[in-house]
Amino acid sequence: MYAVTGITGQVGGATGRTLLNAGLSVRAVVRDAPKGAPWKQRGCEVAVADMNDVPALSAAFTGTSGVFVMIPANYDPEPGFPEIRAVSAALASAVRAAKPPKVVVLSSIGAVGMKPTLLSQLGVVEQALGDLATPACFLRPCWFMENSTWDVESARDRGVISSFLQPLDKTVPMVATADVGRAAAELLQETWTGKRIIELEGPVRVTPNEVAATFAELFGHPVRAEAVPRQTWEQLFRSQGMKHPEPRIQMLDGYNQGWIEFEQLETVRKGQIALKEVLKGLIGAK
Ligand SMILES: NC(=O)c1ccc[n+]([C@@H]2O[C@H](COP(=O)([O-])OP(=O)(O)OC[C@H]3O[C@@H](n4cnc5c(N)ncnc54)[C@H](OP(=O)(O)O)[C@@H]3O)[C@@H](O)[C@H]2O)c1
Repeated sequence: MYAVTGITGQVGGATGRTLLNAGLSVRAVVRDAPKGAPWKQRGCEVAVADMNDVPALSAAFTGTSGVFVMIPANYDPEPGFPEIRAVSAALASAVRAAKPPKVVVLSSIGAVGMKPTLLSQLGVVEQALGDLATPACFLRPCWFMENSTWDVESARDRGVISSFLQPLDKTVPMVATADVGRAAAELLQETWTGKRIIELEGPVRVTPNEVAATFAELFGHPVRAEAVPRQTWEQLFRSQGMKHPEPRIQMLDGYNQGWIEFEQLETVRKGQIALKEVLKGLIGAK
């Protein structure tokens, strides 16, 4: 029995589906009981636990062969990341109490680095769960191809995608969340001791211009990428309601300037799913 948190989301969902397809049993960890219904129908046990609820998380992780842990994304964290520190502490307490034989933790490229970015939140999680006696594997994927979901409507209606990734002809490591979930499910079935880090990207790196060209191919009309000028980001993000845009800006700078990169390029695992397949799915879902 594997416990999977975030199973109603992209990566957790893919992790759960991969395990079920392999004939393995899954405990779906959801925060709202009704959201567990489709997973119950697929044969899962369902546990209800909010990420901050230590007793509920402990119960959800008890009696398992392994736990997949993810933390919800927070694009506008308070300085010092108090929200993620609280969730990380709750998850660590639950793992300490439940003593599963291993945890696979969804982290990110750039989780550990010199400059504070949004991705540093994953470094906080890594530290909290890496300090435990339980064997922990930190899965560090790169930019999710599904982030292009924000661009589907403008590509369809206006033939343009606004890109914070720039220059537009610079390749970016991207990966499909289905590949991330599959990797997590495979790691849950492995045995190791201590701490592991697994880095993951898609089959090939792609440029924002290639993302636009792929949308163009799928829509059958021209689509171009347009760089959002760097000097407008802070005002733009604040106008969209962000209170602390700096970590997000630093993350984008890190990708664009190339200092957000994998630590061990020669051992990075490769996913199989191409951008075109992911964009096709995103378009179909709209
Ligand atoms: N986007 C990227 O390019 C990228 C790259 C590398 C790493 N990451 C990391 O990937 C993670 C996001 O993964 P994802 O895209 O699979 O997430 P997602 O699709 O947004 O799903 C989030 C999941 O977390 C659950 N959740 C939210 N708040 C919760 C709470 N308080 N208690 C319990 N469950 C809660 C959601 O449940 P509900 O359905 O109930 O809302 C949902 O199942 C983040 O940690 C992010 O930093 C992202």
